[in-house]
Amino acid sequence: MRLVLVGPPGAGKGTQAQVVAAHLGVPHISTGDIFRANVAGGTDLGQQAQQFMDAGELVPDSVTNAMVADRLTHADAAGGFLLDGYPRNPGQAEVLQELLARTDLELDAVVELVADHETVVQRLLERAAKEGRADDTEEVIRRRLDVYDEQTAPLVDFYRQRGLLRTVDGVGAVDEVSARIIAALPSANA
Ligand code: AP5
Repeated sequence: MRLVLVGPPGAGKGTQAQVVAAHLGVPHISTGDIFRANVAGGTDLGQQAQQFMDAGELVPDSVTNAMVADRLTHADAAGGFLLDGYPRNPGQAEVLQELLARTDLELDAVVELVADHETVVQRLLERAAKEGRADDTEEVIRRRLDVYDEQTAPLVDFYRQRGLLRTVDGVGAVDEVSARIIAALPSANA
């Protein structure tokens, strides 16, 4: 199964991706996690990404697409993957489509996790108090939400037009949301 999980910051992509990837036996590939690991490790990639992440802006496509192209060549992704946080704009979606087409592959589904702004801001402020993630300040959260609306939300139509979109309510208990996602996947309906 080749899946993409899309949704605003705080919708629960990372939380749900872990559960769903384990259920499907595919790797959970989070571009945000890869960037954060590189920032923590002080790598060149981390240095290129950090200023954009700290401001709530997207890391440039040239950097992000190359990183994902490399990650998808790892052996564990050969049988499928769950991409969390990528693609994040129509240009990245085109690149992903081209990358998969090189080996005659395509996505099976794109799950859109929906949650209202008030819920996601509350979740992220709670996480800020507990974990202190650098981009969980109120100002940067607001910018991340604007970036989602401006740059990532158009992907919903892009994938709807291709018949891949499954929209899932992301508000509720974590296990309830996981069950909704799994029920929405193509194999569960086959
Ligand atoms: P990324 O790490 O992808 O951050 P994000 O999209 O802002 O997402 P979050 O991790 O904040 O939220 P989430 O939806 O994963 O929710 P989570 O499960 O964590 O990206 C960070 C940055 O990296 C970007 O701003 C950008 O700079 C860069 N980047 C990444 N990908 C890129 C790309 N493709 N192109 C360019 N730049 C890119 O949950 C959030 C909180 O809510 C947690 O505390 C969780 O415990 C809680 N929670 C989750 N579900 C529930 C629930 N059902 N009920 C109650 N609480 C819940």
